[in-house]
Amino acid sequence: MSDEAAPQMTASAKNGAGAGGVVAVVGLGKIGLPLAIQYIQHGRRVIGCDINLAVVEGINRGECHVHEEVGMEAEVARAVADGLLRATTDTTAAVREADVVVVIVPVVVRGQGEVAFEGIDAATRAVGKGLHTGALVIYETTLPVGTTSGRFRAMLERESNLVAGRDFLLGYSPERVSSGVIFRDLRIYPKVVGGVDAASTAAAVAFYRAVLDAEVIEMRSADDAEFVKLIETTYRDVNIALANEYARFADAHGLDMTAAAAAANTQPYSHIHQPGVGVGGHCIPVYPYFLMRGAAEGGLTLPRRARIVNDAMAEYAVDRIEAVIGPVAGQSVLILGVAYRGDVKETAFTSAALLRDALAARGAEVYADDPLFTDDELRAHGYTPITPERSGAVRALIVQAAHSAYQRLDLGAYPACRVVLDGRRALARATVEAAGMAYVAMGDGRLAAERTRTTTEDTEVTEVHGGGKSGAVETAPTATARSNPVE
Ligand SMILES: NC(=O)c1ccc[n+]([C@@H]2O[C@H](COP(=O)([O-])OP(=O)(O)OC[C@H]3O[C@@H](n4cnc5c(N)ncnc54)[C@H](O)[C@@H]3O)[C@@H](O)[C@H]2O)c1
Repeated sequence: MSDEAAPQMTASAKNGAGAGGVVAVVGLGKIGLPLAIQYIQHGRRVIGCDINLAVVEGINRGECHVHEEVGMEAEVARAVADGLLRATTDTTAAVREADVVVVIVPVVVRGQGEVAFEGIDAATRAVGKGLHTGALVIYETTLPVGTTSGRFRAMLERESNLVAGRDFLLGYSPERVSSGVIFRDLRIYPKVVGGVDAASTAAAVAFYRAVLDAEVIEMRSADDAEFVKLIETTYRDVNIALANEYARFADAHGLDMTAAAAAANTQPYSHIHQPGVGVGGHCIPVYPYFLMRGAAEGGLTLPRRARIVNDAMAEYAVDRIEAVIGPVAGQSVLILGVAYRGDVKETAFTSAALLRDALAARGAEVYADDPLFTDDELRAHGYTPITPERSGAVRALIVQAAHSAYQRLDLGAYPACRVVLDGRRALARATVEAAGMAYVAMGDGRLAAERTRTTTEDTEVTEVHGGGKSGAVETAPTATARSNPVE
């Protein structure tokens, strides 16, 4: 057993110790498998645990099912060949052999904020059954405050007949990395760590000092460490909501929100984020609900309000489009990108779904395109894929995900299109306008002008709808990328 897992040791004695120890990583997904490789690169042996037999069998053959991280395939193959990594569906047996257990099984939110613990509860029971004296268990999944010290501690103690702090050590450390750049983030993001008691905190801190190169921040408790991840993600949701409200104000008053925010942010205490068509993904729109779950009646009003403001941007996007083309009822609108963010094949809580529903509710014919998804996958997610025949009737485009492929978007394929709503500031206004289409972005201050123009152009609109418009859009644009650091 490695030193950081022994309850009686002092923090200083454990610091950096334990090379050669065994770590059980429970949950071999996009985060768990890279973590396993990280620990192996720092001298540990890893037993990976997952309920997905195909994942387990693949890893034991040296295959890597996580493709987001550069070089992972070779690392997994080498680790398995060297006998440093093996996988199993038997979490309990793996935990019996392990000095340290890292749990990274998802917790999800269903509907409007109901937190679903089933998967991680099952993992916790399996861990508890294999737990032995001196083991260190660390949860890394994002959790509502108090989950490690309450729910999971009770489950582990019940299943193991051991006592946390006395017989085994229990800590929490939020995983703050982003899929696709995990090894970079593990190097540079400070690791936030807290335990259910002083010995657990010290052991978890020692473990991370040994397996990471980043700074380790010691928190007073596991609850404090859970709180950190929830407030950093909720801060971003609230900040984006503020930016979205600023954008709507700018639109109503003919102001340029992007330029104003850039100027405001030259003051070192101003960090205004960018507005957009909504906030998607596993984290930012989800973790505010984890936080609110523990709030007193009437508490945490800003996070609550931010969720409403950000989700309402889909309706507002339709307003902006209608300001150019009139009521969308009966008109074809194409959503570009169903992924929740650019270049990621992932649809969790994507704003594309809110846009689709808002457009459909007003009677639009809604189509979707996403270069990362097949037509069958789009259909399975509830979208109608665009076809070359239907492209000719599209009247409005909405850039929902800033996929790099959209830098080569052929606007000439949409000859009846009158407006491009660039929900992620991914395209260049000049390119879109050169194709004869209006360019609309949240906070560009042009809403009033568009409404006026639409009213005066009613006759022309009818003509365009009926017969298409003339040829100026045949050239494929070369749009200039502008990064959106927020979503
Ligand atoms: N994906 C991200 O970008 C990201 C970033 C930071 C933090 N996180 C945190 O990491 C957690 C995991 O995310 P992920 O992207 O790795 O998820 P994932 O869906 O890619 O992988 C989860 C894995 O856990 C396995 N699993 C489910 N139930 C299990 C059980 N009872 N026992 C063992 N294995 C089980 C699944 O089969 C799957 O392989 C998230 O819930 C979040 O809290 C994720």
